[in-house]
Amino acid sequence: MRIFLTGATGYVGSAVLEALLRGGHDVTALVRDPEKAERVSMRGVQPVLGDLSKPASYAASAEACDGIVHTAYESSKRGAKVDRQAVDTLLGAAIRRAARGQPVGVVYTSGVWVLGNTAGAAAEEAPVRPTPLVSWRPDHEKLVLDAGRGRTLRTAVVRPGIVYGGARGIIGDLLKDAANGLVRVVGDGRNHWPCVYDRDLADLYVRVATRPEASGVFHANDEADERVADIVEAIARQAKMRPDLRHMPIEEARAKMGPYADALALNQIVRSPRAHALGWTPTLHSVAGNVARLQEEFRTAREAA
Ligand SMILES: NC(=O)c1ccc[n+]([C@@H]2O[C@H](COP(=O)([O-])OP(=O)(O)OC[C@H]3O[C@@H](n4cnc5c(N)ncnc54)[C@H](OP(=O)(O)O)[C@@H]3O)[C@@H](O)[C@H]2O)c1
Repeated sequence: MRIFLTGATGYVGSAVLEALLRGGHDVTALVRDPEKAERVSMRGVQPVLGDLSKPASYAASAEACDGIVHTAYESSKRGAKVDRQAVDTLLGAAIRRAARGQPVGVVYTSGVWVLGNTAGAAAEEAPVRPTPLVSWRPDHEKLVLDAGRGRTLRTAVVRPGIVYGGARGIIGDLLKDAANGLVRVVGDGRNHWPCVYDRDLADLYVRVATRPEASGVFHANDEADERVADIVEAIARQAKMRPDLRHMPIEEARAKMGPYADALALNQIVRSPRAHALGWTPTLHSVAGNVARLQEEFRTAREAA
């Protein structure tokens, strides 16, 4: 398939890119930096230099593809606004293509934080109660899902858990902090984080992007139901020198990090039955059980960067 990918240089998107290429797909990627565009083109990808906030830079390229996968996110004050612009642009491109009778699928990246604290295990049908950091996200999910009611336009939302693998993301930061001698945890650490290995997540994206029956919401987590304290303890135990551990009361964390603190303090048990129904089976089943491997991946990724 010919896939238009945003965020190909990011944590989630770079894993998705690798999985798409492994699957033999033809990828066109929106990249905002010429040097990074050069790097993706060396992987056999068609780069489109542009920016999410400049629809004219990528709308036509998206319209030329039979799959659109949106993983980019601008981490700035205008992040939600730019995401809305991107959703409107990508859906517009897909709607125009579908109107010509050409089938197209759109995959939008959300996250499990839209579920808020879960009451028991939350599968894909569970009601959303977003933590303030992502209060805007359910509207974007709805725009995407509502657009996919036609026969030629198929839409899906992937909600990843906290991603692990390589050197990036929240777990990558914990590995780095442990190596530097101090790990901070928001709250007492008894809360559960739903997590997913980056390559497993990427495998799910490929399934959702390429299967004609894949539409609606898909959760992506390894279902290990790990407590933050257990993740941190496993990482601390494997560190060369045991790091100090500091629990930050939520009020102090909020003062330092804003609503990100509440997202880190969420207590979530998540299930992904709709993802499993696509034949998706994660290969890694926990962070704590794979720390040695994750440390190795962290080192290798840092050396390559
Ligand atoms: N990481 C996780 O654990 C996790 C979990 C659940 C959900 N998610 C969601 O997944 C999405 C991606 O997260 P991530 O961790 O992969 O983030 P990331 O590593 O920061 O990657 C963001 C990507 O978006 C691109 N980008 C940012 N602003 C752009 C703009 N204005 N125009 C074009 N491209 C732009 C970046 O390009 P540059 O390389 O040029 O910066 C990069 O490729 C987000 O919506 C996030 O909420 C992530």
